[in-house]
Amino acid sequence: MELKNIKKIGVLTSGGDSPGMNAAIRAAVRAGFYYNLEMYGIYRGYEGMIQNDIKKLHSGDIAHVLERGGTFLKSARSADFRTTEGRQKAYNNLKSHGIDALIVIGGDGSLTGAHLFYKEFGIPAVGLPGTIDNDLSGTDATIGFDTACNTAIQAIDKIRDTATSHDRLFFVEVMGRDAGFIAINAGIGSAAAAILIPEKKMAIEELVEKLRIRTKAKKASNIVIVAEGGKSGGAAEIAEKVKKHLPYYDIKVTILGHLQRGGAPSSYDRLLASKLGVSAVEGLLQGKYDVMAGLINHKVVYTPIKRAIVDDKEVDEDDFRVAKILST
Ligand code: F6P
Repeated sequence: MELKNIKKIGVLTSGGDSPGMNAAIRAAVRAGFYYNLEMYGIYRGYEGMIQNDIKKLHSGDIAHVLERGGTFLKSARSADFRTTEGRQKAYNNLKSHGIDALIVIGGDGSLTGAHLFYKEFGIPAVGLPGTIDNDLSGTDATIGFDTACNTAIQAIDKIRDTATSHDRLFFVEVMGRDAGFIAINAGIGSAAAAILIPEKKMAIEELVEKLRIRTKAKKASNIVIVAEGGKSGGAAEIAEKVKKHLPYYDIKVTILGHLQRGGAPSSYDRLLASKLGVSAVEGLLQGKYDVMAGLINHKVVYTPIKRAIVDDKEVDEDDFRVAKILST
């Protein structure tokens, strides 16, 4: 296959960081070196592109980053990149370095930026799904999702110990913005009494009834997992409502928050990030532009970014069925 005439690639991470971003950067940079390309780090995402915070990367820059959480390129959410002037500045800076293609690692907002930039300025870009939320189509999992679920489960296990000692009812809020993937995964993995996610409304009465039945069955402890942004409200709000129906319960609320974004990436995330980092470079060299590289059934798949960011990745109904069976 004839390789495209790309000599300098810029790599950036943008939006909320996720464990495995460093592994993806490292893989992309190593692959770039393998194909004799010059690789550039664009610091603080699109904001750094606008501010010209761009540096040529050397192999020392990517030593010992694979195993570290966060992103050494740093990340940001850039309001300026949403403006035409901001994007023009960013383009001028890229050209001043002679950068002719981009690898953008981030969630839907970051990939939307790459798509827009390609449409306006013709800068070839391959996106990589870097978000703990797992809310992108075109990949079985996003980079960081597995680690975030593991972190959530480990935290919930600890909460379980104290919940059982005190016969308490806990509401644990997990991240995921408008997506319930972490909640359903961590909920099944931690034997949750119920899982509340944004995609599905559960009436408070239904939840209360479920908890009553479990109390009668003398369950040792009850943990309800609530995804932030859930239709019925956050964990604190739901706990408040449930308290009115079950006043005899000692109820506590824990919000796991940004804890879920940090930590060393899991083995799955390291593999995913490494495969996708290499695929991003190879995709660009093969002329696959304006696409996101993802992994489906362990095979690399390039999906048009426009398609990957549409809001249609649904939680698996079967996961819900399993969670229901296991919580009764
Ligand atoms: O998109 C990743 C994510 O962690 C979401 O789950 C969460 O809603 C959001 O980012 C939090 O963003 P920030 O770190 O800007 O508060």
